[in-house]
Amino acid sequence: MLATSSSSSSSSTAISLHPLTNYNASATPSLNPSSLSFSSSYSYLSPLSFRLHSSKTHLRITPKKGLRVSCSTNEPLKVMISGAPASGKGTQCELIVQKFGLVHISTGDLLRAEVSSGTEIGNKAKEFMNSGRLVPDEIVTAMVTVRLSRQDAKEKGWLLDGYPRSFAQAQSLEELNIRPDIYIVLDVPDEILIDRCVGRRLDPVTGKIYHLKNFPPESEEIKARLVTRADDTEEKVKSRLEIYKQNAAAISSTYSSITNKIDGNRPKEMIFKDIDSLLSQLLKDKTVKSVKPVLQTESRLDQASSNQEKWRGIPTRLNNIPHSREIRNYFYDDVLQATQRAVNDGRTRLKVEINIPELNPEMDVYRIGTLMELVRVIALSFSDDGKRVKVCVQGSMGEGALAGMPLQLAGTRKILEFMDWGNYGAMGTFIKIGSIGAKEVDEEDDMFILVAPQNAVGNCIIDDLRGMTDAAGKRPVILINPRLKDLPGSSGIMQTMGRDKRLEYAASFESCYFFRLLYYAGTQYPIMGAIR
Ligand code: AP5
Repeated sequence: MLATSSSSSSSSTAISLHPLTNYNASATPSLNPSSLSFSSSYSYLSPLSFRLHSSKTHLRITPKKGLRVSCSTNEPLKVMISGAPASGKGTQCELIVQKFGLVHISTGDLLRAEVSSGTEIGNKAKEFMNSGRLVPDEIVTAMVTVRLSRQDAKEKGWLLDGYPRSFAQAQSLEELNIRPDIYIVLDVPDEILIDRCVGRRLDPVTGKIYHLKNFPPESEEIKARLVTRADDTEEKVKSRLEIYKQNAAAISSTYSSITNKIDGNRPKEMIFKDIDSLLSQLLKDKTVKSVKPVLQTESRLDQASSNQEKWRGIPTRLNNIPHSREIRNYFYDDVLQATQRAVNDGRTRLKVEINIPELNPEMDVYRIGTLMELVRVIALSFSDDGKRVKVCVQGSMGEGALAGMPLQLAGTRKILEFMDWGNYGAMGTFIKIGSIGAKEVDEEDDMFILVAPQNAVGNCIIDDLRGMTDAAGKRPVILINPRLKDLPGSSGIMQTMGRDKRLEYAASFESCYFFRLLYYAGTQYPIMGAIR
């Protein structure tokens, strides 16, 4: 397929990693006394449950059951709402839920439910909440990820209220690739916030939020049963506001590209009107994006996979460096779908070739981090399907003075070892790191991803590669951006002996993904199009 980048559509395809239901989560609440082990379930969220253990240092999600990758285009709305205490998040959420039917997930409400049920989590959270401090990240993150994983949130979409509230919380979602479509921030001056908090009353029967002056209860009966939140004193509101301000900038930097700030110091109906039009537009965009390609490719629908039908053109602005997250995600998703299809079709010798600027070692904007991210997405996705994946980087080739490694791979293995593979225990269990060669193939490995295997001057990787594929037998071996053409030997003499056989072997890998930008010869601008 030949496509020009200028004719492409939006680049907002994104990979979403969705926690599946019923996983166990373990975490360290940095709480005293030291050893905690408790579980929780919400009466109105049954059968949701999770466990927290202070003996472990990370939130863990059992990898097999943990995450699944899907394209976001056909998904329902995912909304985050943020703002200072009493900026009106809860009030707007009531209206959003009424109109859009999203699942409202409020960490404040979840925590208050724990407190009033007297659970162990509730007892621990209480002291933090009552003093206006944030409850430890691990507790809240476990609650949120479990709640997001439930079927209703996946089907109806979600409205996340009060989370993330720290940079670490935002990063936890990023690591799980849980990203909203929009990040709404309600903006209200400080002096108004304090009055709103102090005058706030809650109806324990309906959950409705009132304000003694602004939104008084409809009847004396309701008024009589209203309760005041323990953290709604002037002193505590000031402390909550301070904490909010300390964290706000770091969190909004994570979502800067999808942030919409809304003046929250107006009647609630006016505020909702703005939110309503934003969300309605988003919904419209999503529908158009998921319908359009189907119309365009009608004649090929029978052969195309459902993922292929969602293809929405090539992103523009590929010469903008660094590539935006959306662009990177677009390609990770594209490559992932291709490799998954090929492996599911029983293909075993595969190669991926993609030369967007950040993945093109010929360009000085090449980024090893982008290559590693791509590899991580693929490996995590296959491991999520229960496959044991070995990610392999060639080590030094040759010995003594001849020992060497292609420059672009220097340090790659270390980066792989140090990089963040998520907090759910896939690395070391479902994912292992190795080198290239027959002895790297263990019985337990289900498949192999080889990071940019390549010949270097004076050294040929083909023999090691062949040994590895022979040992792997029918197990898939996927080469990511391989360079297997012969290079001159160190003496400057071409390696002619056995060249045919080497090239024949290199050609035995089927291309399951190919993407190449087209430029005028000798230039890198403008981009004339792309072959995909
Ligand atoms: P949480 O319940 O989330 O409290 P909050 O963020 O401080 O927000 P509020 O619920 O106080 O206000 P709101 O913005 O929802 O405003 P509302 O609509 O009610 O969290 C409580 C505690 O839990 C935290 O302090 C923390 O300890 C813990 N916690 C929660 N999430 C956490 C996390 N992620 N990590 C760690 N800890 C966490 O409106 C307020 C009042 O104003 C009402 O009376 C309302 O009627 C009135 N009002 C609303 N809109 C308007 C308007 N437009 N005009 C006039 N009045 C209005």
